[in-house]
Parts: sequence; structure tokens; C-alpha cells
Amino acid sequence: MNSTLRAMSILATMLTGVLAAAIAASPDATNGVRILYPLPGSSCLGAVRVIAATPNTQSSLTAALDGVRINLIRTQFSETWQLAGKLKRATELVGSRQKASIWTVPLNLAPGRHVLTVGTAKLTIFGGAAPASAAKYSAPLYSHKRLAVDSSGLDCGGCHELIDGRLGEVRTPSACATCHDDTSVQLIHSHVPQHLSRCAQCHDPHGAPYPHLLVDIKKRLCARCHDAGHIK
Ligand code: HEC
Ligand code: HEC
Ligand code: HEC
Ligand code: HEC
Repeated sequence: MNSTLRAMSILATMLTGVLAAAIAASPDATNGVRILYPLPGSSCLGAVRVIAATPNTQSSLTAALDGVRINLIRTQFSETWQLAGKLKRATELVGSRQKASIWTVPLNLAPGRHVLTVGTAKLTIFGGAAPASAAKYSAPLYSHKRLAVDSSGLDCGGCHELIDGRLGEVRTPSACATCHDDTSVQLIHSHVPQHLSRCAQCHDPHGAPYPHLLVDIKKRLCARCHDAGHIK
């Protein structure tokens, strides 16, 4: 690196720091932290992933479970993942995938009520089923079974392409087919294959509020294309 470049990169680092400080100092900034998973108030059935998004200008993020610090691993989206998919809350936060940082850690929750804080965001979740007294919080969160863990300690690469440690595209159905082969997928769904290939239309593997990781009740999912038995 020549000296001009080095000076520029030092300046860039300083600017990033200033921006991060500005974001940290203004908790009400709309472009703040968004906890994508777990869903607020959910009772977490099975292994749960914390996945949060911030603008990629944010250089550090603290998180705690019941006041005890937990360390998040930071990643970003690969440059090559351009297409907007069905799941895009991270993208909505900052305008484009490449402007987001993703912060994540797997959690094993003891039974009962827990408070998760990530930066300025905070939510209540339950390990196992929520107590009856917390009825308003009782929406369950079903999570995909945790996959083999990679060198960073996470299992994102089980479905996502990992490019230099960055999250790449999830190519369905091939990303799922290693474990959910075509035949069994066909048997489960008894549906024409071509409309099944975009699994994330109906399933959110990170965690979803309906059984079988469905993003909505079956009737409404089918109604996206079918109307009283007919195809729209
Ligand atoms: C079981 C499969 C699976 C695993 C494991 C998985 N993902 Fe995903 N992920 C998906 C699918 C499917 C999509 C949706 C792709 C689409 O819509 O094009 C997605 C999309 C996303 C998005 C949304 C992208 C956006 O634009 O907002 C984020 C963020 C994400 N994954 C983070 C992670 C992280 C972090 C991990 C590891 C802790 C992980 N995922 C593990 C299947 C998986
Ligand atoms: C049109 C919506 C839709 C799409 C697309 C879809 N699924 Fe499903 N899937 C469902 C529904 C609904 C169920 C619940 C079973 C039922 O009631 O038919 C389900 C159930 C499942 C189950 C659980 C089966 C069991 O009984 O344990 C698996 C695994 C599954 N789907 C995998 C996939 C994979 C992999 C893809 C992509 C190749 C996919 N699905 C695409 C709607 C969909
Ligand atoms: C490395 C293997 C692996 C990959 C890859 C994988 N899964 Fe799974 N999946 C599993 C296992 C294991 C289960 C749990 C089966 C069980 O407990 O009966 C599961 C369960 C499911 C279920 C059913 C959950 C339920 O509660 O009924 C759905 C839906 C599902 N996976 C969707 C997907 C989708 C969509 C993809 C691709 C984006 C994917 N999976 C990729 C291994 C995998
Ligand atoms: C993305 C759009 C889409 C969604 C969502 C969808 N379908 Fe379909 N479905 C189709 C199309 C298109 C056809 C007709 C294909 C043909 O005739 O070649 C079809 C055909 C069918 C058929 C006729 C039998 C067959 O396999 O040809 C049944 C039954 C069916 N769908 C049930 C469902 C159910 C149940 C759901 C919800 C779990 C669902 N569909 C969700 C697009 C969809």
C-alpha cells in the first residue's frame, strides 16, 4: 500500500468510527438495530439462532441475555448476492443487502422467561413453552434443526453459500436437497415440483411462527396462487 492509500484507509476507518459512534449515540435512529430472529415474545422451541442486522457502518454491537453478555459473530452479505428473495427484513432496514451487517450467535435457552438485548433493541422470549400467565407472549417460534457447525462456530453455510466468510445466496431446492431429497419433498407436498422449488415462499428455516416452519397458515399460503381450488 502506498502512503496516499494508507492515509485514505486510515481516514475511512476514522469516518467509520465516527459514524458508528453517531449511531450508538442515537438509539432512536430509524436505521438502528433490528433483531430478525427470534421473533419478539416468542417461545423458542428447539435451538434458536439470534440474527440481527445493522447498517454496515456499525463496527461493534453488544448483546446480552438476562444481563449476561453474549458475543455476536459479525458477517456481511457477499457482493454476488443481488437478487431480492422472499426474506428481506435485513435488506429493508438499510436499502440493500450490501449495506447491512449481520450479527449472529446460537442460543440454548433454559426453560422460562428471558430478556435479550442487542444494541438498542430489546425483547422478551421464552425457553420452551411460555407460561400460561404470559398468554400475550405465547406465539411459538419453530426453528430449523441446527446443522453442522463451520469454523466460525456457526451453521449458516449449511444452506448459504459462504464466500470469504460472507453470506451468499441460498439456492433452493439444491441447498435443501442434500437432506430433503426430491422424492421426499414431492411426497410431503404432493404438488407440482416447479412451484415447490422456492422453499422460502412458504418456509422460513431460521424460525417461523407456524408448525413445519411455515410463514403463514396453510390456507393463506395456498391462496397466494389458488382460489377455492382453482389456480389464479
Ligand atoms: C436451513 C437453511 C438455512 C440456514 C441454516 C441458514 N439460512 Fe439464512 N436463509 C435461508 C433461506 C432459504 C433464505 C431466503 C433466501 C431467499 O429468499 O432468496 C435465507 C435468507 C437469510 C437472510 C435474509 C436476507 C435478507 O435480504 O434480508 C439472512 C439475514 C440470513 N439468511 C442469515 C442467516 C444466518 C446469519 C445464518 C446462520 C446463523 C443462516 N441464515 C442460516 C436458509 C438458511
Ligand atoms: C407452497 C408452499 C410450500 C413450498 C413452496 C414448500 N413447502 Fe414444504 N411444506 C408446506 C406445507 C403446507 C407443509 C406442511 C405439510 C402439509 O400440511 O402438507 C410443508 C412441510 C414440509 C416439511 C415437513 C414435513 C414433515 O412432515 O415433517 C419439510 C421437510 C418441507 N416442507 C420441506 C420443503 C422444502 C425443502 C421445500 C423446497 C424444495 C418446500 N418444503 C417448499 C408448504 C410448502
Ligand atoms: C444438513 C441437512 C439439512 C439441510 C441442508 C436442510 N435441512 Fe431442513 N431439516 C433437516 C433435519 C435433520 C430436519 C429435522 C427432521 C426431523 O426432526 O424430523 C429438518 C427439518 C426441516 C423442516 C420441517 C420442520 C418441522 O418442524 O416439520 C423443514 C420445513 C425444513 N427442514 C426445510 C428446509 C429448507 C427449506 C432447507 C433449504 C433452504 C433445508 N431444510 C435444509 C436437515 C436439513
Ligand atoms: C407459487 C404458486 C402456488 C402456490 C403457492 C401453491 N400452488 Fe398449487 N399449483 C400451482 C400451479 C401453477 C398448479 C397447476 C400446475 C399445472 O397444472 O401444471 C398447481 C396445482 C395444484 C394442485 C393440483 C394437483 C397437481 O399437483 O397438479 C393441487 C392439489 C395444489 N396445487 C395444491 C396446493 C396446496 C395445498 C398449496 C398450499 C400448500 C398450493 N397448491 C400452493 C401453483 C401454486
